[in-house]
Amino acid sequence: MAIQMDILDKGKQYLSPVMGHYTDLEVISAKGVWVTTVQGRSYLDFTSGVAVTNTGHNHPAVVQAIKDQADQLIHISSGVAYCKPNVDLAEKLVQKTGYADGSVFFCQSGTEAIEASIKLVRYVTKKPKLLTYTLAFHGRTLGALSMTYKEKFRQGYENWLIKDVERLPYPYCYRCPYAKTYGDCGFECLKALKSLLLADDQIGGVLIEPILGEGGYVPAPIEYIQELRRFTSERGIALIFDEIQSGFGRTGMMFAKELYDVQPDVMALAKGIASGMPLGACVARGDLMKQWTTSAHGGTFLGNTLSCAAGLATLRVIEAEKLLDNAYQVGQFIKGLLEEAKQRHPVMGDIRGAGLMIGIEFVKAGTLTPNPELVTTLRRVAQERGLLLLSCGEEGQVIRLIPPLMITKEEAAQGINIILDIIREQT
Ligand SMILES: Cc1ncc(COP(=O)(O)O)c(C=O)c1O
Repeated sequence: MAIQMDILDKGKQYLSPVMGHYTDLEVISAKGVWVTTVQGRSYLDFTSGVAVTNTGHNHPAVVQAIKDQADQLIHISSGVAYCKPNVDLAEKLVQKTGYADGSVFFCQSGTEAIEASIKLVRYVTKKPKLLTYTLAFHGRTLGALSMTYKEKFRQGYENWLIKDVERLPYPYCYRCPYAKTYGDCGFECLKALKSLLLADDQIGGVLIEPILGEGGYVPAPIEYIQELRRFTSERGIALIFDEIQSGFGRTGMMFAKELYDVQPDVMALAKGIASGMPLGACVARGDLMKQWTTSAHGGTFLGNTLSCAAGLATLRVIEAEKLLDNAYQVGQFIKGLLEEAKQRHPVMGDIRGAGLMIGIEFVKAGTLTPNPELVTTLRRVAQERGLLLLSCGEEGQVIRLIPPLMITKEEAAQGINIILDIIREQT
């Protein structure tokens, strides 16, 4: 008789070990901000499946849209025929991103949205080089990985990666790479940017996360992004925003670019775009897209009908339920609680972010030394107490708070109290 293995053992046997797992939980269902395991235990989810379920897990309107679409048509491929959900979502994305005559290239994931964005810029500008940043995370396929910074992800592939990538230190004010203090820094980061771009006319584009995700939930200073936009426009260098994590209401704005009041030339989108259905998009200015000739890029599954139906429902829910407003309000509430606690807990080095994209950087008390050990303990104990958390940052020293955008203040307070109790007990 076959031995019954539980899912965990089976997963460890049959799923490639290359895929890491934050927890050993077996989740069977989820609703709103709550996920439930096979044992029937509910957890408050401050991860949103890594910044994906912005409308809340299994939002009924999204579920219905997927079911309705599945009854009609699951797949046809954009390469074979046009279909309404795909075209309608492209229209909406062009409107929401603010590209008057722009258009959309759909794909399935964030890394593919980056592949598309960098191929578009390379193809159109014909310039070989791209500029990106330390701490950047743009995905794991070889093109996107070439733009990603972390050694752990690049190791073993180094000589396959694109060589024509320049890298500047990310403008990370809490750990200023130029050892300056914000407000009194003379923007050394901008000087470095300008001198590099002036010295090297082979750089056709700049790729940046306006708010670092994996790298530590670090918002670039407003002055930096605005001057980056002005300077690249002036010199005809394409500016690509990776808004894969910061998009779709996460920051209290539809896109983080609105916080900076700038318009990039290209935007890479994914994660929250379709409430959990696999979808990504590269959206760009019309004059760039029009030069990307047919077959210079493509694929079979681009803009799957179920994913696009879910994407349309996601946009309707964000608007109807005023999720941007809620993300802003609850985000401010959380930041208030954390800022107040920071006065009492010197291990809380920095609280930052926008809307419900909030990072808490932990340090050894009273120093700038990263404290990943405390973050690991926090995540473990929080899970024991029914709260799911993710970390980020170069050394894993940052807790990132990314709950679904429909979270209430009460639910937010419940999660934050768990975090603050653990900090109190552990320090
Ligand atoms: C900013 C950013 N870019 C790109 C990616 C890659 O997206 P995906 O995992 O869907 O390939 C991620 C994923 O975490 C991300 O946060």
